[in-house]
Amino acid sequence: MKSIISCILLFAYAANGQQSPYGQCGGTTYTGPTSCVSGWACTSQNPYYYQCLPAATTTAKSTSKPTSSVVKTTSSSAKTTSSSKVSTKASSTSSTAVSTSTGFAKTSGLFFDIDGKTEYYAGTNCYWCGFLTADSDVDHVFADISSSGLKIVRVWGFNDVNTIPSTGTVWYQYLSASGSTINTGADGLQRLDYVVSSAEKYGLKLIINFVNNWSDYGGIAAYVNAFGGTASSWYTDSGSQAQYQTYIKAVVSRYSTSSAIFAWELANEPRCSGCDVSVIYNWANSTSAYIKKSLDSNHMVTMGDEGFGPTTGGDGSYPFTTSAGGYNWQSNLNISTLDFATFHLYPESWGTSASWGTLWITTHAAACASAGKPCLLEEFGYSDECAAVESGWQSTSLSTTGMAGDMFWQYGDTLPSCNCQTSNDGNTVYFNTSDWTCFVTNHIAAIEAKYGS
Ligand SMILES: *[C@@H]1O[C@H](CO)[C@@H](O)[C@H](O)[C@H]1NC(C)=O
Ligand SMILES: *[C@@H]1O[C@H](CO)[C@@H](O)[C@H](O)[C@H]1NC(C)=O
Ligand SMILES: *[C@@H]1O[C@H](CO)[C@@H](O)[C@H](O)[C@H]1NC(C)=O
Ligand SMILES: *[C@@H]1O[C@H](CO)[C@@H](O)[C@H](O)[C@H]1NC(C)=O
Repeated sequence: MKSIISCILLFAYAANGQQSPYGQCGGTTYTGPTSCVSGWACTSQNPYYYQCLPAATTTAKSTSKPTSSVVKTTSSSAKTTSSSKVSTKASSTSSTAVSTSTGFAKTSGLFFDIDGKTEYYAGTNCYWCGFLTADSDVDHVFADISSSGLKIVRVWGFNDVNTIPSTGTVWYQYLSASGSTINTGADGLQRLDYVVSSAEKYGLKLIINFVNNWSDYGGIAAYVNAFGGTASSWYTDSGSQAQYQTYIKAVVSRYSTSSAIFAWELANEPRCSGCDVSVIYNWANSTSAYIKKSLDSNHMVTMGDEGFGPTTGGDGSYPFTTSAGGYNWQSNLNISTLDFATFHLYPESWGTSASWGTLWITTHAAACASAGKPCLLEEFGYSDECAAVESGWQSTSLSTTGMAGDMFWQYGDTLPSCNCQTSNDGNTVYFNTSDWTCFVTNHIAAIEAKYGS
């Protein structure tokens, strides 16, 4: 799904003379601070990118060659003035990030093992969590989610632009053929840093994805604007793929030791119009191998797709065909570097019925069971009230072998900094409303009845 946050807050942080943990500290064309805060060492990742990594554990992570794209810090982060606020924030982020090196979420048969407990898990989507500018709002949201028993939270790990916005607007990556920029500053990945540290604090597990098929927050369209090609050629375009991998490396290396990462996700709803199914297969196979084999073997990796084209079972309706997404979901199950499978469920957008959702869930679950991998229903939405349709999908998912969890689209709350509501796209379930009782309270009770609390 795609939507726009309704409440944007402007809250700028500042940087001091020494680079904060995981920030850039050197590289060709780089002009910012070249020393790191105490306990962190400036380490060469490649000629274009030196990064502050924990001093004690600093080792060369990989010997991958620099890409043709230049990674540099932003003028906005370099321009910010010093203030004690930042160093406090940066060091609290780093101390939590370093302290956790065990207890990563993993698969366990057809289920997930989170913090040593193997069972069915429920979660939600908060695409905007990493775009909040007040730390207190992030903490408020995660405290509420955590209090409810939901465990997995999916956030956008991308925010791509082709024009650098003014200070105070969050963006993560500027894409341009003449030199792209990954924003590690206060309006950039430091916002995601806070999301990760807050998730650690509240015991939540994050799915973080790297690009959007849709043009919200940039996405594939922003790469195409910068590097050429089309939405379909993006998957094989060398310029786009080099920068996409550079971006993945920048994000993964910031949190590779954090137990708050549930899984890395290749994209939000990747589709390849008019493509042979091998295009997405090869892209997913090589990108997931790049993450698992050269960047981070501890965390799970998944696709983030809508689940189109399982060709065994189903009723032959459009979503069950490979032309719906340009991929064969069932074939993708055999990619060994993808730990579990994802699918979404929006019958109204797909021209199918509410009751058809049951077949969609059971067909995917059966394929997951035979492939020996967990299935996660990671987005679902329907315009009706929860009780009529969606609680039925949740019950089906909970009771079907092969299903390991479900996550409704999307989470809603009232932010304390502005006393305003978060994005309402018609599928928003606000904390502690009657819909919340149906989507969350009742569902968590059903899970606890089955697995214990
Ligand atoms: C998302 O995928 C579809 C199918 O390939 C494509 O038509 C569309 O252009 C994509 N969106 C963007 C913004 O590129
Ligand atoms: C998938 O990637 C692996 C490397 O992890 C490679 O050995 C294998 O040949 C690839 N499979 C296909 C079908 O391309
Ligand atoms: C995975 O599926 C693809 C597409 O069906 C097939 O070409 C390939 O041989 C399979 N690979 C393995 C390792 O089973
Ligand atoms: C949310 O609702 C639950 C159950 O009624 C209640 O215990 C809790 O205090 C409420 N939380 C907030 C922040 O209102």
